[in-house]
Amino acid sequence: MKRKISQQLIAWYLENKRDLPWRKTNHPYSIWISEVILQQTRIAQGLPYYQRFMDAFPAVELLAEASEQEVLKLWQGLGYYSRARNLHHTAKFVASELNGKFPETFVELKKLKGIGDYTAAAIASICFDEKTAVLDGNVFRFLSRVFGIETPINTLAGKKIFSELANQLICQTDSPADFNQGIMEFGSLLCKPQQPECLLCPFQTHCAAFQTGKVEELPVKLKMKATRNRFFNYLVMFSEDKQKVTLEKRNGHDIWKHLYQFPLIETTGKPASAAQIKSHKLLKGLEVSIRLANKLPWQHQLTHQKLHINFWLVQTDLASENQISVYNIREYPVPVPIEKFINTFEF
Ligand code: ADE
Repeated sequence: MKRKISQQLIAWYLENKRDLPWRKTNHPYSIWISEVILQQTRIAQGLPYYQRFMDAFPAVELLAEASEQEVLKLWQGLGYYSRARNLHHTAKFVASELNGKFPETFVELKKLKGIGDYTAAAIASICFDEKTAVLDGNVFRFLSRVFGIETPINTLAGKKIFSELANQLICQTDSPADFNQGIMEFGSLLCKPQQPECLLCPFQTHCAAFQTGKVEELPVKLKMKATRNRFFNYLVMFSEDKQKVTLEKRNGHDIWKHLYQFPLIETTGKPASAAQIKSHKLLKGLEVSIRLANKLPWQHQLTHQKLHINFWLVQTDLASENQISVYNIREYPVPVPIEKFINTFEF
């Protein structure tokens, strides 16, 4: 039964796989970049990022030589910016310490910063034919449905069950590269989260979920923690001649580390009033006039946070060390809401 499922998956994949640039190569650099991008986003959204990235840095040595700012700029909008910083770090390591050559096994790949189980398994199988199974949302969905597994996927017990099962399946094949890509492709094209194509599915007769009417209920996932509301006030501080604006680098250890932003005042519970902003320590004692640039707070959803954002136009003659020319603002990697502001207000 397991052998048959593996073989059928591969046969389906060879017939139905999408024509994608990273499927024309098995070079570890290209596979690494594509798989890290695809952990962040769906194929359609990831494709232009991959193309821009490969155009800018066609080889690991070129990524190694880039500045962090360039790398973050190309990553802008994908989120989870530590992935981009880790890519850069590991490119430098591979270029300088490993002579530009990637390790060839799961165990050795995992020693590189930013390469976890998923990426190591993807590279080891796709590039070096190692029988090591990837686990991603597609794999959880397919396996939970076909085998009727109700253990929540975001628990240790769940990860263990799915990992063992996927590894048993991949060991039944001679083509781990096609198996891993096939199971993910099947999950994204047919065994979809919503409205899966069960009527077209070659596994219908074996599929426990289909046979018991549980397709929509699987996989089971434990509820994540609730999202938290945060109230951000960005101070858009132009110089008197409007040629410069203050932009600072974020240095805290959070998802936006090393991205740039306008000076930020965060308030708790509700949006800040103009009086609160004016009396904040960043502006206190200064001759300033402020004006809200947006009518309603902009909302921006992150994984566990909902941001409510106001942009305040601040006029002051204070010279800040973080002033940059407004004409260069698009060179800086910024969080998505700031990019939208820059585009909306036509810097
Ligand atoms: N999702 C992430 N990586 C993938 C791959 N290599 N093939 C299909 N879907 C994917």
